[in-house]
Amino acid sequence: MLLEIEKLSVQFKTESGNLLALRDVSFSLEAGEILGVVGESGSGKSVSNLALMGLLPDIAVINTKKVLFQNHPLDLNSQKQLSQLRGKSIAMIFQDPMTALNPSLTVGYQMLETLQTHLGLSKKAAKMKAISLLERVGILSAEQRLKVYPFELSGGMAQRVMIAMSISCNPKLLIADEPTTALDVTIQKQILDLLIDLQREKKMSMIFVSHDLALVKKYSQRIQVMYAGEIIETGPTDQVIKNPHHPYTFGLLKARPSAHAGKTKEHLYAIPGTVPSLRARPSGCQFHPRCNRSTEVCKKTNPSVSSLQPSPLQTSFSCHHPLESL
Ligand SMILES: Nc1ncnc2c1ncn2[C@@H]1O[C@H](COP(=O)(O)OP(=O)(O)OP(=O)(O)O)[C@@H](O)[C@H]1O
Ligand code: SF4
Ligand SMILES: [Mg+2]
Repeated sequence: MLLEIEKLSVQFKTESGNLLALRDVSFSLEAGEILGVVGESGSGKSVSNLALMGLLPDIAVINTKKVLFQNHPLDLNSQKQLSQLRGKSIAMIFQDPMTALNPSLTVGYQMLETLQTHLGLSKKAAKMKAISLLERVGILSAEQRLKVYPFELSGGMAQRVMIAMSISCNPKLLIADEPTTALDVTIQKQILDLLIDLQREKKMSMIFVSHDLALVKKYSQRIQVMYAGEIIETGPTDQVIKNPHHPYTFGLLKARPSAHAGKTKEHLYAIPGTVPSLRARPSGCQFHPRCNRSTEVCKKTNPSVSSLQPSPLQTSFSCHHPLESL
């Protein structure tokens, strides 16, 4: 197992009180595996990734029961420990490459700095490696590109540079958080195909966050569905998509564009309501105000996970009235 996280919770300390953004999130990742993470905006996908990278703001209070990375305990409150892993063993690709690239430094300067710091390469060796990395991600005239500033690159090109930087130290885990959402559809596919090629080539594990269930279905072996800061269903991707147990997963699947093929506009399905604000969390099951299966018990008690010892090969979910197997 590459990564094991048990009961990760994150609260944000604000002037109007503590806001619970993640509640008892537990998951694991095998070496070389792709875990797809889905859920509406605000469900906690990025907060869990940023916690793992040590990139949450100071107002975040992180609690965990156990975190193991490569079988060693990892303290998500230790910047010292996390900064040793960040960029080297765990790398992240963000939705907007410009947030990860420094606008005032050339691409070459940023790449060389990473390679020299983490891999201890000489300047000359780092430059050679940077050129070959840029070539690997499909950038032409790579040597010239080292001299440009990030703002001189197109969105797709900047994303390729960020991918090159993220894989430069051969990370064991690559977190791709909506890596292509900001790009045109045609470029999206090229970038995703590149990412998957690299993932296979380097045998990395990957956490792949996407709003697009079709992409998660295509690329991930396991899926994790998040709602209001909790994992509400998880299991092998094919099983979960074919046979969802949680009404929220069912709703997400019903609402995806491909489920609407041939339907008129009036018949398009959308899950009613919105993800609750952290300031106004409902009692009991967080999904109950939006769920058509909700009963009194749902309003009072948050359902526990269906399996006490969830295995990666088995679907587990948290619901008092799950959908039956088909
Ligand atoms: N720095 C912060 N201070 C306060 N609340 C925050 C902070 N960062 C995130 N949150 C809250 O935590 C919750 C989870 O946010 P998160 O960014 O993880 O959502 P997400 O699932 O990644 O959504 P999206 O699909 O829009 O990226 C949201 O309610 C968000 O407002
Ligand atoms: S616990 Fe109840 S409200 Fe929550 S998803 Fe299941 S049926 Fe719906
Ligand atoms: Mg996010």
